[in-house]
Amino acid sequence: MTCRTLLTGATGTLGTALQPRLIDAGHDLLAASRSPPDHGDDLEWIAMDLVDGTGIREAVADVDVVVHAASAPQGDSEAVDVRGTERLLEAAADAGVSNFVYVSIVGVDEIPYSYYEHKFAAERAVEASAVPSTIVRATQFHSFVAELLGMVSRSPIWPLPTAIRLQPIDVGEAADAIVDRATTDPAGRVPDIGGPEIRTVGDLARAYRDARALRRLIVRLPLPGETAAAFRAGDGLCPDRTVGTVTWNEWLAGQFD
Ligand SMILES: NC(=O)c1ccc[n+]([C@@H]2O[C@H](COP(=O)([O-])OP(=O)(O)OC[C@H]3O[C@@H](n4cnc5c(N)ncnc54)[C@H](OP(=O)(O)O)[C@@H]3O)[C@@H](O)[C@H]2O)c1
Repeated sequence: MTCRTLLTGATGTLGTALQPRLIDAGHDLLAASRSPPDHGDDLEWIAMDLVDGTGIREAVADVDVVVHAASAPQGDSEAVDVRGTERLLEAAADAGVSNFVYVSIVGVDEIPYSYYEHKFAAERAVEASAVPSTIVRATQFHSFVAELLGMVSRSPIWPLPTAIRLQPIDVGEAADAIVDRATTDPAGRVPDIGGPEIRTVGDLARAYRDARALRRLIVRLPLPGETAAAFRAGDGLCPDRTVGTVTWNEWLAGQFD
């Protein structure tokens, strides 16, 4: 039986990786976001806004599985990730969706950071909903770490929280693991998805600098507060769940060689 699947956040970093993989896995895919994808003329797409409710009910009608990857990491995450997810869940419950797959982040329940607190609130809304669900948490994508380092890259000196530890994963490998969960069998909270190695921000930044052949000085930025302490303590890691195989250096080589 072909699975009719709604992918929210279809134009995002993860959504762009999920789209072709869901189609290859045989899903009858409906992609959703506020603005249309740049490419993919063959893609069935619907305009959906989680904040004002546009398109939500139409998007979930006749859908078996929802893969919910829409998010506002840099925006109003309370409106999009919490209230928007609640709105989507309500419509999914009314439409009789079989499995609502929610993509979350490792450590959202431990790390006191507002975006993570909103992700955790969304997880709780998913669990409390009448819709059968699956919650899968991933660590940071390589591309996201590169984006953050890219922000300081022009400066001759990079002040960075060098002791923070991360376990970045290739977004394609994270997407593969999420596609495996996009079935009509809801599985609840499933084991986390992490990258192959745990490295400090200082170490990741040196490899990034070398891959781009930049001459920059990396200096330790002492970050006070509970959020940085939680990241340093490893609350954003899943050392037993090294699902990804592509290392940071391998990923960098693919980007900058
Ligand atoms: N990035 C990471 O390193 C990472 C790691 C682990 C887990 N995750 C999780 O993976 C998921 C996807 O992350 P990402 O990095 O792919 O995010 P992203 O690149 O910022 O993409 C966000 C997506 O959400 C859509 N969106 C934003 N506001 C919306 C709204 N009001 N209504 C409907 N759609 C909206 C965006 O499209 P429009 O703007 O066109 O609407 C876009 O398609 C998130 O839940 C995130 O927490 C991310």
